[in-house]
Amino acid sequence: MNILEIIDAKKRGRELTKDQIDFWIKGVMSGDVENYQTSALLMAICLVGFSEEETYNLTQAIINSGTTVDLSSFYDLSVDKHSSGGVGDSTTFIVAPIFAALGYKCAKASGRGLGHTGGTLDKLESIRGFNINLDKDQFKKQIEDIGLAVISQSKDMCPADKRLYALRDVTETVDNVGLIASSIMSKKLASGVKNIVLDVKCGKGAFMKDLDAAKALAKEMVKIGKRANKNVVAVVTNMNYPLDECVGNSLEVYGALRVLEGERNNLYEVAITLTSELLNSMGVENAKQKCDVVLNNGKALEKFKEMIKAQGGDISLLNKGYLLSSKYVYDVITDETGYVQNIDPMGIAGTVTMLGGGRLKTTDTIDLYCGVELQVHVADHVSKGDVIAKIYSNAETPSAIDRVKKAIEIGQFQVERPKMILAVEH
Ligand code: URA
Repeated sequence: MNILEIIDAKKRGRELTKDQIDFWIKGVMSGDVENYQTSALLMAICLVGFSEEETYNLTQAIINSGTTVDLSSFYDLSVDKHSSGGVGDSTTFIVAPIFAALGYKCAKASGRGLGHTGGTLDKLESIRGFNINLDKDQFKKQIEDIGLAVISQSKDMCPADKRLYALRDVTETVDNVGLIASSIMSKKLASGVKNIVLDVKCGKGAFMKDLDAAKALAKEMVKIGKRANKNVVAVVTNMNYPLDECVGNSLEVYGALRVLEGERNNLYEVAITLTSELLNSMGVENAKQKCDVVLNNGKALEKFKEMIKAQGGDISLLNKGYLLSSKYVYDVITDETGYVQNIDPMGIAGTVTMLGGGRLKTTDTIDLYCGVELQVHVADHVSKGDVIAKIYSNAETPSAIDRVKKAIEIGQFQVERPKMILAVEH
């Protein structure tokens, strides 16, 4: 067997065997397969397609390229949530504490933000002192003790995914359902968790722009999980608008805090759906009511604070004064009267990047305390002179005002409030 035969087989539309996929990924890791050969194969996969069987075998080959985590001491209670990436998405800070408050064990390994999507680790690091680098034993002990931990993805887990992703990113080969599904699911399966809820974002601010593609990805990932004997449910959610009013790293911690303290908005709806759908699939009765109880009685907020404290963060900083404390604050004032038709997630995320709060390449250093706080939702009525957003910045950037204004489209027609939950795949 050699890599040229494998590329040729895919180019001619043949299904790759498990042995061929293992040979390829082993070659990626050893260096025997060159980056240009992998790039050619990835492009052939995008053009010809990748079957369910191939996707499953690639997932397993990626897992086998590195180490896995053993959570057998609390396996049946172990839960995790994964988002395919969006704007204003801080559901982890609500979902994980709800699970922990209900007695489940939430073991979460997260990443940093790249491009328009924010990263959980950056958001957590806006809380002074927070340590994202627990070792395996500290991670497990914290979950056993308080029910939740969020740490950085280990470099030893799924190293082949890192190599493949770096090539996909620069060869326009990201958006293939099989490649995305194997990339996400390899990391989820290697993390050793039994019960997994996937938030598949759909819309202008997501990888999957249309509902059919998002559903196909959701189905594929659920199938991979089931075949690996995991309990997996996927929820397709609306990413045509920023999920929360707060976008930007420290701002998103504040956005999640508001929900933990009682606000009931779109972020709440998505978070409560993710938790209750996973609990339903685990056979828990009245799951949504149970999640609401721990949100309403402050138990979830307590768990969030326990986690921050356990990982060295200063909980006295969990307030608006600290999390929204940039040097400059600009009001975005509308000069129109009408209804909010649309809030472009890419326009808002692009503004945060311009303010210094987002990365264009993985090595960029970012400002964790800048962002946009929307004051309106889609379908709201606004009058000329109303403040429709606030911009938090540590540099003088009045030009951001126009960018945010452009992202918030106002028109004469009354529109419906958008649905946040688009589909659920079991
Ligand atoms: N997120 C991942 O981890 N991998 C992909 O391929 C796309 C999104």
